[in-house]
Amino acid sequence: MLDSLERLPPDSILGLAAIARADTNPHKIDLTVGVYMDESGITPVFDAIASAQRTLVENETTKVYMAPSGDEQFNLGMRKLVLGEDSAALRDNRVSSIQAPGGCGALRIGAEIIQAARPGARVWVSDPTWPVHIPLLGSVGLKFETYRYYDPASHGVNFDAMVEDLKQAGPDDVLLLHGCCHNPCGADLTLEQWGVIADMAEAQGFMPFVDIAYQGMGDGLEQDAAGIRLLAERLPEMIVAASCSKNMGLYRERTGITLFVCRDTDNAEALLSQAAVAARRVYSMPPAHGAILAGKVLSDPALTASWKQELEGMCSRINSLRSALVRELAAQCDRDFSFIANEKGMFSFLGLTKEQALLLRSEHSVYMLDSSRINVAGINAGNVAPLAKAVASVL
Ligand SMILES: Cc1ncc(COP(=O)(O)O)c(C=O)c1O
Repeated sequence: MLDSLERLPPDSILGLAAIARADTNPHKIDLTVGVYMDESGITPVFDAIASAQRTLVENETTKVYMAPSGDEQFNLGMRKLVLGEDSAALRDNRVSSIQAPGGCGALRIGAEIIQAARPGARVWVSDPTWPVHIPLLGSVGLKFETYRYYDPASHGVNFDAMVEDLKQAGPDDVLLLHGCCHNPCGADLTLEQWGVIADMAEAQGFMPFVDIAYQGMGDGLEQDAAGIRLLAERLPEMIVAASCSKNMGLYRERTGITLFVCRDTDNAEALLSQAAVAARRVYSMPPAHGAILAGKVLSDPALTASWKQELEGMCSRINSLRSALVRELAAQCDRDFSFIANEKGMFSFLGLTKEQALLLRSEHSVYMLDSSRINVAGINAGNVAPLAKAVASVL
């Protein structure tokens, strides 16, 4: 039976990262996978997480299963983190949530709920979007439509085209949005534009499904959630999938959450019961470790303060790397790369051709995706000038 299965090609991003890792050139520059790295190329454990972990290890008395909805402190903390301390939806008790294995697990639970409510519903995804969205949501049975989003000419959002395309979305449709720090393009909606999306959702009846995997890595924790909060204030229902992989450094602990903002308490409770059953048929109970740590950090004022400070440090480092890259590129070549400084989060499209990206790989051991998407957090003081020089040489 099993020998009928063929070997599949590696995931396009993880496969390229493996090639970069195997490159023995000591001057290689790996800008592939979206993980944060510090000046020495390390993806650090946050001090607050390490401290919570020490307490957990000292006091843990059992490894018995988690509740299907996950850690209570984590759920409460994440609802406030995403929707805001003063969220009317939270006050009105019309939000429920379920801990999930990472942002991917959270997206999958959201997809399962949509499929249960509207089998084969159309999900509108941005062009481009994070490639994993398609198999994650599509394997549940959802269908896709694409809306225009990134404009390579202006290096920003083509909002008019987005609105034009979304005019076709109706009450049985879902709109997938990136909460902040769009992956792969780094171009985000303004708050005013989120308001227009809310107007359209109100008028046309489609439901937003927001993926937020980088809260706190763009303009700050509160600002990065402003779009989601606006939708939650204005609309009767939406789903949010949030990840703690990047903003708490919990990548391998698989820590995420699906939030359901509903019409009323009854519906919120119904959705939680649906989500628990969906989780049961996929993986049963969520993993404990990361969510317990995140729950401790979010519920202890001293740990919260330490975490926020470290996250702000990461965020400002990413933004200064953007400025440094713009400066170095300006010094090395004629093309205007100033747009890099205006984007949010870890990603940017440099606007190179596939041939140029391949040349950077083969001639300079500079690894970026074929689309010339880079992870800005892979840059550091030591490699920014050689990177700009290599880019200039292939233009
Ligand atoms: C846009 C987006 N959504 C969701 C995720 C999910 O992250 P994870 O499952 O690692 O928490 C990622 C991770 O790279 C992402 O870039």
